[in-house]
Amino acid sequence: MIYLDYAATTPMKREVMEAYMHTAEMVIGNASSLHSYGREAKRVLNEARKEIARKIGARPNEIIFTSGGTEADNLAVFGLAKALRSKGCHIITTEIEHQAILQPMKQLEEEGFAITYLPVDTSGFVQLEDVERALQEDTIFVSIMFGNNEVGSMQPISEIGQLLKERDIPFHTDAVQAYGTVKIDVEEMHIDALTASAHKIGGPKGIGFLYVRSELPLMAHQVGGNQERKLRGGTENIPAIAAFAEAVRSLHHFDQDKMNDVTERFLNELAKCPIQYEMNSPEQRLAHIVNIYFPHITVDHLLARLDLEGVAISSGSACTAGAVEASHVLVAMFGEGERANSSVRISFGEETTLEEATASAQIIGRVVETFQRGKE
Ligand SMILES: Cc1ncc(COP(=O)(O)O)c(C=O)c1O
Repeated sequence: MIYLDYAATTPMKREVMEAYMHTAEMVIGNASSLHSYGREAKRVLNEARKEIARKIGARPNEIIFTSGGTEADNLAVFGLAKALRSKGCHIITTEIEHQAILQPMKQLEEEGFAITYLPVDTSGFVQLEDVERALQEDTIFVSIMFGNNEVGSMQPISEIGQLLKERDIPFHTDAVQAYGTVKIDVEEMHIDALTASAHKIGGPKGIGFLYVRSELPLMAHQVGGNQERKLRGGTENIPAIAAFAEAVRSLHHFDQDKMNDVTERFLNELAKCPIQYEMNSPEQRLAHIVNIYFPHITVDHLLARLDLEGVAISSGSACTAGAVEASHVLVAMFGEGERANSSVRISFGEETTLEEATASAQIIGRVVETFQRGKE
């Protein structure tokens, strides 16, 4: 099998697994307990928090551990909306956010908030002028994703951050896909809140964080305990947090050039195949994601056939995969139509080899050719 669905999730790295197992075995206390077991758990928690904060240029107390990207996005959207409600009820986001942002936004609309969903161009980019034009007197925050999980387009985060800083409007970014593959510094980029998830960088599933600038008010979404500065109640998952920190530590091995080579090899090999296709992903994108439109194919049939042939890829985001519906990201980029239904996402990881890139492109080319010739 060749696994090319790293944007959905990544395998846990060996050293991460070791950190997880070691912590699960040796650190048995509850970080809220006062005895030595509890203090040891707290020490491990603090160490991990420091490591993770340092990586994005934040302070340790600005990191709130959550059960992953979805929870962190929910906490950002609901937590900021509720904490800032007295200042206004207008929020700006984009049409291509992950559902972990879009669905909370829909709920807020039902509660009386006004949401502006910014459009994107056919490359999946938000225009800075559109952000500026959408700002209102009562805009309380803006949430724009760093890198898109379906097509990989990267937004002008520093420019948006600068603009919002000048207007004194808080800026949240969902960096789940970008985190670990591009350098992120919340100070330099003027980011006030940021979502990340461990399982996209070789860490365990079910752990993530929300960074929130310490001066920014936030209302807890999950209550019932004083953990995480009372912003996220619940006993901390110490083994997962220690493993997350280990995954962050091993990011210094991340080789951007190798990732670019793998993607390029795949695309060059695909270009040799006698098939029709168009790239949905722009040039300027996260190196590990390519999204491709194959005219006249039925995506779920293609994915099933590729699975049998030993290549695991996905249609759009994993969270909506399984349901055969048009990708909201591709609809935002290209409008309704076949393209939004007949496209696939191929995503590479640190473990992907050049040989796998070549072989998978050849298999995909062969299967797509069969489908496009109407042989299946
Ligand atoms: C951009 C983006 N945001 C949020 C999430 C949700 O993260 P998690 O799976 O950790 O809940 C994902 C996962 O696919 C994602 O790609």
